[in-house]
Amino acid sequence: MLKLDNKTALVTGASQGIGEAIAKLLALQGARVVVAARNEEKLKSLAAYIDAGGGCARPLALDVSQPETFNERLKSLPADFGEIDILVNNAGITADNLLARMSLDDWERVLRTNLTGAFALSKEVIRGMMKRRWGRIVNVSSVVGMMGNAGQANYAASKAGLIGFTKSLARELGSRNITVNVVAPGYIETAMTESLPEASREALTGSIALKRLGTVDDVAAAVLFLASEEAGYITGHALNVSGGLYI
Ligand code: NAI
Repeated sequence: MLKLDNKTALVTGASQGIGEAIAKLLALQGARVVVAARNEEKLKSLAAYIDAGGGCARPLALDVSQPETFNERLKSLPADFGEIDILVNNAGITADNLLARMSLDDWERVLRTNLTGAFALSKEVIRGMMKRRWGRIVNVSSVVGMMGNAGQANYAASKAGLIGFTKSLARELGSRNITVNVVAPGYIETAMTESLPEASREALTGSIALKRLGTVDDVAAAVLFLASEEAGYITGHALNVSGGLYI
């Protein structure tokens, strides 16, 4: 079940956190994985770690806020990594502030990285997927894109935008056997949440039905499922991985 042998995946924002966990899990299930982010050094050690564990990975320095570089960057991949079957648009940033204090630059930076990056990279890889009549695109949104969040108007707009983008693309590409889905994580254990004071942590977990924060592996498992052959009849779906924070 959920084997990805003979598939090539590209995961953006793979240098740490959720993207790293997704890359490791897809590789464990047999995919060749292109690990992409801006920091090539971190990516090299992740690719070496995956290779050492019997997987197959290749680092790719890619800034998702620079779509004009995508074509040349993807062409730099060796032939056996060149045909992307599974695209995971995971890279994302925040620049939080209340609207009254949010600069146009903070608005545009977040939209450009989180939403425009996914648009442009999807556009770049679907040609090959259409030709091969098989493809999986999984976009990483956030429950904040469904619920809204004070102080995150830019981030929530970008993540809600990803959901509309996903549903439209699912309708466009379904006839070519390409599925497009979105995963919306809730609060996930990361370096940021680790440093929260105990009281804030308790308040946070109190609002979650399952009474715990999520792990990067919880999110990776959902992405793996949507990327698999077994999920071939699921498209345009937004899967919230929030422990019941948003129901
Ligand atoms: P993180 O900050 O630990 O990692 C983000 C990754 O994106 C890093 O690899 C970073 O290098 C990469 N990245 C940022 N800007 C980039 C750019 N311009 N080009 C290429 N790569 C870039 O974040 P985390 O927590 O792992 O989040 C991953 C995704 O999950 C993001 O889209 C985030 O919005 C989403 N998410 C995270 C949640 C959480 O609680 N951590 C909750 C809901 C959604």
